[in-house]
Amino acid sequence: MSHPHERPRRLRQQDSLRSATAECRLDVRDLVQPLFVSEVLSGRRRKPIPSMPGQFQLSQSEALKECELLVKAGVPAVILFGLPAHKDEAARSAYDDDGVVQNAVRAIKRRFPSMLVITDVCLCEYHSHGHCGHVDRDGRILNDPTLETLARTAVSHAGAGADIVAPSDMMDGRIAHLRKALDQAGAQDTVLLSYAVKYASSLYGPFRDAAGSTPAFGDRRTYQMDPANLREAVREARLDVEQGADLILVKPALAYGDVISAVRSSVDVPVGCYAVSGEYAMIKAASAKGWIDERRVVLETHLSYKRAGAAFMITYWCRQISGWLAR
Ligand code: PBG
Ligand code: ZN
Repeated sequence: MSHPHERPRRLRQQDSLRSATAECRLDVRDLVQPLFVSEVLSGRRRKPIPSMPGQFQLSQSEALKECELLVKAGVPAVILFGLPAHKDEAARSAYDDDGVVQNAVRAIKRRFPSMLVITDVCLCEYHSHGHCGHVDRDGRILNDPTLETLARTAVSHAGAGADIVAPSDMMDGRIAHLRKALDQAGAQDTVLLSYAVKYASSLYGPFRDAAGSTPAFGDRRTYQMDPANLREAVREARLDVEQGADLILVKPALAYGDVISAVRSSVDVPVGCYAVSGEYAMIKAASAKGWIDERRVVLETHLSYKRAGAAFMITYWCRQISGWLAR
């Protein structure tokens, strides 16, 4: 037999052939844009986030403007993070029916009924100490009391019209607790997206500046996962599906392709990923210096998430990706 007898390069000869045989491709319909809605900004005010060029803290009406651009770009979904005017030890603003997220949900669903509105359900932005769970006098995180507050928050978001509630706190048992509370409140159809697999990552720094949620003491390693662990990710995902999660999220995305892949093959619900703030900051900074080509790098990293098995992606590049795919 003459060699080489297999010629993989045969399929790489031209664009049309490469494209027809591609194993996956990016689609704007899979994208979710995070929006930071601030209660202290009013009217036409938006505040740039220094470490995230192109991203802003938004007043409610600026958030609506952003949604209009997203709809035009074909982006079907947003995930809302709230910056409340008031923080305390009990995270009271989180479950206020007149709170920043609740009001934004109502406004967005009224203007853009077909936009999918996801709410981040966590207490860090509402706690004076910045932790995701309630804290006792010794600084320990109180798992079970936190579940009650998360449930009130999720029910309040669902009542405002959120299509999907997405707990990101990493407390144990929260999915079962939230599902039960939602069902009892008549919100059987509200979808539960669990950030089941959330690592204690150093890539969240810019987000914490944007959302004002840096912990005042300690860190999140008693509740977020150790980046060393993969089998634990499968365990977390399985537990949340057993408790009633409709969708599972892996976070961060960059550097966690193995996790997306393992989780996707071990549960039978759709798995998504979150391209987090630190990924955004790194790529924006290097491309601003002219050291990398932003478009090509972003399309490549996001394609890698698809290849790993992500059905949907939360990313700060939604509008840019939409523009790049349209060309
Ligand atoms: C808080 C939360 C964080 C992110 C989403 N929800 C930060 C954290 O856990 O400190 C990070 C998102 C990003 O970095 O883009 N529950
Ligand atoms: Zn949190």
